[in-house]
Amino acid sequence: MHNFPNARSVAAEHLVLEQLGKSFGAVDVIPSLSLAVRKGEMVAFLGPSGCGKTTTLRMIAGLISPTRGRITVGGRDITHLPSHERDMGLVFQSYALFPHMTVLRNVAFGLEMRNVPKPEVRARALRALEVVQLSHLADRKPRDLSGGQQQRVALARALVIEPSILLLDEPLSNLDAKLRDEMRVQIRALQQASGITAVFVTHDQVEALSMCDRIVVMKEGHIEQFGTPTEIYEHPASPFVSSFVGRTNRLRGTSDSRGVITVAGQQIRAATAEAQGPVEIMMRPHRMRLAPAATDRNVPDATPVQGQNSLRGVLERLTFIGDLVQYHIRVGDAEVMVEEATRRDQGAPCAGTPVDLTWQASDTLVFPAAAS
Ligand SMILES: Nc1ncnc2c1ncn2[C@@H]1O[C@H](COP(=O)(O)OP(=O)(O)OP(=O)(O)O)[C@@H](O)[C@H]1O
Ligand SMILES: [Mg+2]
Repeated sequence: MHNFPNARSVAAEHLVLEQLGKSFGAVDVIPSLSLAVRKGEMVAFLGPSGCGKTTTLRMIAGLISPTRGRITVGGRDITHLPSHERDMGLVFQSYALFPHMTVLRNVAFGLEMRNVPKPEVRARALRALEVVQLSHLADRKPRDLSGGQQQRVALARALVIEPSILLLDEPLSNLDAKLRDEMRVQIRALQQASGITAVFVTHDQVEALSMCDRIVVMKEGHIEQFGTPTEIYEHPASPFVSSFVGRTNRLRGTSDSRGVITVAGQQIRAATAEAQGPVEIMMRPHRMRLAPAATDRNVPDATPVQGQNSLRGVLERLTFIGDLVQYHIRVGDAEVMVEEATRRDQGAPCAGTPVDLTWQASDTLVFPAAAS
């Protein structure tokens, strides 16, 4: 039997961006972006407004041309291929449906443009509407549909051409919260069932974490981190990623060569001790616990329980948000937030109470202070 050592990894890479860059005039919006999306994978571009998500997606779609770099699909260079010759379906935030056409014609339009024979156009458009569960509204005009239904038409229109890649730019941001949740599940199910490769632009971390196989976290035109939702959340590559994805506490401290970190005059430990000197430490609020300050000691021990950290502070205020209660605790000149699930029988400590914060040393992230 022949052995192709690299066959699998080569085949796995579907959409590849190589040192892709875009400048608008003198402004270098995307300096150099390299990325490989696997076949059948759904990847999110996640980042704050203006970081270059849409610009990157539009270069992939062929709607704007890159200033430099290369885009390949299945090994084929498509960098300069016109948009309509790329095998890609597009869904945008504004559904961009044709108002004067029925739902069916909106969906059929892309097939007509590709000179698909008439009888086949109708059958395929109806099938695409079935997939998004809108067959019964085929003869309506877009204005007589709800926002969610319009977005499903836009999705059917992108899927009907049976593209190898689906590009979605904030497709759910115009929908209300409940509908957004439903559409997330539907889009993900459709994408997985069809095995289509998808790139999903969003600035909503929940959307990225819950829907996608991997996430590209972008900042100012470059990639901060590319990884699975768990990698991004549990092992953020930078303070930026940690604070952009999920809630986090940030404190300044000093780390010594043994990995002991001094914060507000108290000592804690982290699982790894790579950084020395001034550091920034981060902890997720829901991984921390709050207890009344122990009275048998004045200063918390460095390690009261093996592998567990403890900091003493003063409860400043608490915020009740239904399923969670957020405690805001002053530790030196920093504020730390602890989140706990609410219970009906819970007695809340009063503001001004001394408290001990505890958490696992392994839940402490440490970055060199200059890295932010
Ligand atoms: N045609 C253009 N001419 C000049 N600058 C542009 C143009 N298009 C985008 N930009 C700039 O490029 C940067 C990235 O824009 P882009 O639309 O890609 O951001 P984004 O990440 O999609 O943000 P948002 O979350 O707000 O949609 C922004 O600073 C934007 O002002
Ligand atoms: Mg955008």
